[in-house]
Amino acid sequence: MADDRHEAMQAVAAEIRGCTLCDLHLSRTKAVPGAGSSSADILFIGEGPGFHEDRQGLPFVGRSGDYLNDLLKLIHLDRDAVFITNVVKCRPPENRDPLPVEIATCKPYLDQQINLIDPLVIVTLGRFSMARYFPGGKITQIHGKPKIENGRAYIPLFHPAAVLRNPDLRPVMEADVNQIPSILEDMRQKRAAGSKPPESAGDDAPPPQQLSLF
Ligand code: URA
Repeated sequence: MADDRHEAMQAVAAEIRGCTLCDLHLSRTKAVPGAGSSSADILFIGEGPGFHEDRQGLPFVGRSGDYLNDLLKLIHLDRDAVFITNVVKCRPPENRDPLPVEIATCKPYLDQQINLIDPLVIVTLGRFSMARYFPGGKITQIHGKPKIENGRAYIPLFHPAAVLRNPDLRPVMEADVNQIPSILEDMRQKRAAGSKPPESAGDDAPPPQQLSLF
């Protein structure tokens, strides 16, 4: 069962690495499917690969990644024990914001990853992943406030890069991260008592077919 899940995650990653569905593939060095445990209880979702991620094909390996590692250490979590991915799997040129069409094109990949991992806690890093679960939410107002739905907690956090740019946010970010273990424990108990996330429409949809221009 765990092996099946791991294989299915590998198959999604292989599809992502070969994806040509949006223009981001034209400028990427490597696609970045995500990394970590296929059976993680916690899934972190960032925005999109940056320079170093694009070179290495791994998420959060630049300065933001170093800070994310520090945050994980705060709560005694190893990177291998969680899964880390992004809303778009290829680097937007010059680290510009991902376009709505790019997020929409990449969504089925993220949906499949979420369905396979079935995490107890989803942590959003920054506004693009936050918008998936908290449409219209303002990070300055909702950061660190979990939304609990059907046995899964969604926790909006600042993006690590935003905290690096504005060190005043460090204590806030660290307080938000320090809540994760107790939220996770709460979710374990709720899940054991029987609440399950719904098979949400579209979350298990296959990736869109490549459209021919001719
Ligand atoms: N920022 C992100 O949002 N994701 C990464 O993988 C790296 C930096």
